[in-house]
Amino acid sequence: MTTLIINIKELLQVENSPKEMVCGDQMKILPTLKNAFLCIENDIIIDFGFMKNLPNLIANKIIDATGRIVLPTWCDSHTHIVYAGNREHEFVDRINGLSYEDIANKGGGILNSAKLLQTTSEEELYKQSAVRIEEIMKLGTGAVEIKSGYGLTLEAELKMLRVIKKLNENYPITIKATFLGAHALPFEFKNNKSGYLDVVINEILPIVAKENLAEFIDIFCETGYFSVEDTDRLLKAASNYGLMPKIHVNQFNAIGGIQAGVKYKALSVDHLEEMRDEDIDVLKNTKTMPVALPSCSFFLSIPYTPARKMINAGLPLALATDYNPGSTPSGNMNFVVSTACIKMKMTPEEAINAATINGAYAMGLEKTHGSICKGKKANLIITEQIPSYNFIPYSFGNNNIYQVIIEGKII
Ligand code: NIG
Ligand code: FE
Repeated sequence: MTTLIINIKELLQVENSPKEMVCGDQMKILPTLKNAFLCIENDIIIDFGFMKNLPNLIANKIIDATGRIVLPTWCDSHTHIVYAGNREHEFVDRINGLSYEDIANKGGGILNSAKLLQTTSEEELYKQSAVRIEEIMKLGTGAVEIKSGYGLTLEAELKMLRVIKKLNENYPITIKATFLGAHALPFEFKNNKSGYLDVVINEILPIVAKENLAEFIDIFCETGYFSVEDTDRLLKAASNYGLMPKIHVNQFNAIGGIQAGVKYKALSVDHLEEMRDEDIDVLKNTKTMPVALPSCSFFLSIPYTPARKMINAGLPLALATDYNPGSTPSGNMNFVVSTACIKMKMTPEEAINAATINGAYAMGLEKTHGSICKGKKANLIITEQIPSYNFIPYSFGNNNIYQVIIEGKII
């Protein structure tokens, strides 16, 4: 099946050979072609170029994209999409003056979601999560990472990871799984953190690895959750099973989580709302992608990741949603891109790079996703008729999406 998209007003993020990521000043460059065509064979991009060079080929389907911009689908490298129920009552509690921390200290927060998930059947959990997968595909996301971490028992963590696996099998979107058993301390282990880490490391991790249920390992390295020492212990154990770290660090406090991540060659360190100079310095010349989650900052009214400072220091940066019931009940990458421009002063070029190629890198998908390149997945957003790509972040709250194509299928 050959699909030809013609008369594309501007084709974004084109490249001739796949690059790994973009860093620092390079992030300001977004390679594009004006008045372009793009050709797809089944699920793969096979050709693109200027309309004036359109080859003579027979296509099964032609899409006329006059006035429309075409770009690669978003790569959302940090989510918690598999969860049961919601926590809108905590949202109201926060409006009435409680902080995220106050709610967690009262036994709410992550533990609330865990309690509900533990008693939700696998079928029901799948059903609720599938709704969110369908929602984000329509919003232009073509690859997503999903974490466990609302189970906090062997049985419930495995249930979450099996749901993630099933979603990956049943939908065209590419899904990567992360084991986040160390997300919060279950009530039963209130005074026995090392006992819970024993369970995570000695009981759950070996099964996750053996059954190939996750590629990545995560931990919430934060005051009141897990310390740098806990992080070190978990990442050391996970490295024996070949699970690569992608960790929650520097959300509320800078306590050295980034340094622990870099020590264990983390693929990404995520959140980064609180960044000291030493945290920026330690990321320089590493393979670790810093990931910012601006819709979490928006929702919790906490600081935004200092993107300008980090990019100006030469670092790369990826953008992701953090879609979860507590701190970010939204999986809209279009909003993330707008918020990064509006609140973090990223340019549209930087934000689009961060939400495509750098997001792909943060999931180990840079060879197949994140750009318009021959041989990569046919994952495309075709926008509404808009004046320029600057309009995408500018018209915040409007998704500007006409059509989404994932692995060659129109969603
Ligand atoms: O990334 N910070 C830790 N975990 C999630 C929130 C979890 C929750 O509140 O349910 C996050 O923000
Ligand atoms: Fe998160």
